[in-house]
Amino acid sequence: MSTTIVCLLLTTIVWQSFDSPTDTILPKQHLKAGALLYSAKSKTNSSTGIFRLSMQTDGNLVQFPASAPTSTPYAYYTSNTPGSGNNVTLNLDVDGHLYLLNNTGFTIHNFTNGAIDEGKSYLVRLDVDGILRLYSYSLKNNGNWSVEWSSSRNKCVPFGLCGFNSYCVTKDLEAECKCLPGFEFITPGDQTSGCGRNMVANFCKSENENFTYIMEELPYTRWENVAYMTWSSSDKEECNKACLEDCNCEAAIFTDGSCRK
Ligand SMILES: *[C@@H]1O[C@H](CO)[C@@H](O)[C@H](O)[C@H]1NC(C)=O
Ligand SMILES: *[C@@H]1O[C@H](CO)[C@@H](O)[C@H](O)[C@H]1NC(C)=O
Ligand SMILES: *[C@@H]1O[C@H](CO)[C@@H](O)[C@H](O)[C@H]1NC(C)=O
Ligand SMILES: *[C@@H]1O[C@H](CO)[C@@H](O)[C@H](O)[C@H]1NC(C)=O
Ligand SMILES: *[C@@H]1O[C@H](CO)[C@@H](O)[C@H](O)[C@H]1NC(C)=O
Ligand SMILES: *[C@@H]1O[C@H](CO)[C@@H](O)[C@H](O)[C@H]1NC(C)=O
Repeated sequence: MSTTIVCLLLTTIVWQSFDSPTDTILPKQHLKAGALLYSAKSKTNSSTGIFRLSMQTDGNLVQFPASAPTSTPYAYYTSNTPGSGNNVTLNLDVDGHLYLLNNTGFTIHNFTNGAIDEGKSYLVRLDVDGILRLYSYSLKNNGNWSVEWSSSRNKCVPFGLCGFNSYCVTKDLEAECKCLPGFEFITPGDQTSGCGRNMVANFCKSENENFTYIMEELPYTRWENVAYMTWSSSDKEECNKACLEDCNCEAAIFTDGSCRK
């Protein structure tokens, strides 16, 4: 298994321009200001996947869904270094030191410190699951790649991992996409396809039926922007209540003082 990975790594060096990395940065390589990394589609398909890492020209290193606009609400990771100049680069040294350098060569942010452990190789990759990871490889360690640093430990953090109208939960540290009751995956078996209504329901007319609705707060959720009503609301409870009292309401989203049904 480790042999395969080494081969892939070497292949990468052969055909990949050193100055325009795709999903991986090798030691001494850097990500220039304005440059991007894209995750691969899957472990076996290196086509462009659904996440991007941007070394922005404002000095901030930010992760977004690949198709999302470059704006704060879509960012799911940031180095918090905006305003550090228009020529900040992400650098990886042979000792595993991962850091941001500004125009005049100052280290403005350390993600890791270099290790004084010779015989280890390193690489940084924007993985298929949207998390940026620093890996080390050591012949001493049974030829294992191990994770030295990651942009997030919670695999639900990468925004858009689950499709529209689904939400993400972690189970045994793995991310799992779920649909709300009454919804199902648009493509059965494909967790990333998003969720849609699993039946034509008209709850409003079935007065004899006795449905009990509950409001649940779901983190890491991406709803289609199909709100039929938006108003400013100071209160999450008020937003919840408005949805509960409206039988057309499937979900309410409360963000920054506004409620959407
Ligand atoms: C990789 O994914 C792309 C885009 O979905 C697809 O067109 C291509 O056939 C896939 N390649 C392989 C080897 O599966
Ligand atoms: C680089 O960072 C150093 C230390 O924070 C700062 O003094 C210097 O002005 C920065 N250079 C640029 C070009 O922003
Ligand atoms: C950008 O900064 C690097 C140091 O981090 C420096 O070597 C390079 O010359 C700078 N490029 C420009 C165009 O200023
Ligand atoms: C980064 O780490 C180096 C040592 O490896 C240290 O000298 C430097 O002050 C650190 N810079 C920041 C911004 O933490
Ligand atoms: C990685 O190394 C550890 C021991 O350091 C070993 O227990 C584990 O099985 C190895 N994993 C793989 C995938 O080889
Ligand atoms: C509705 O359901 C609740 C709880 O399950 C029950 O107490 C109540 O009697 C039901 N009402 C009708 C009209 O069936």
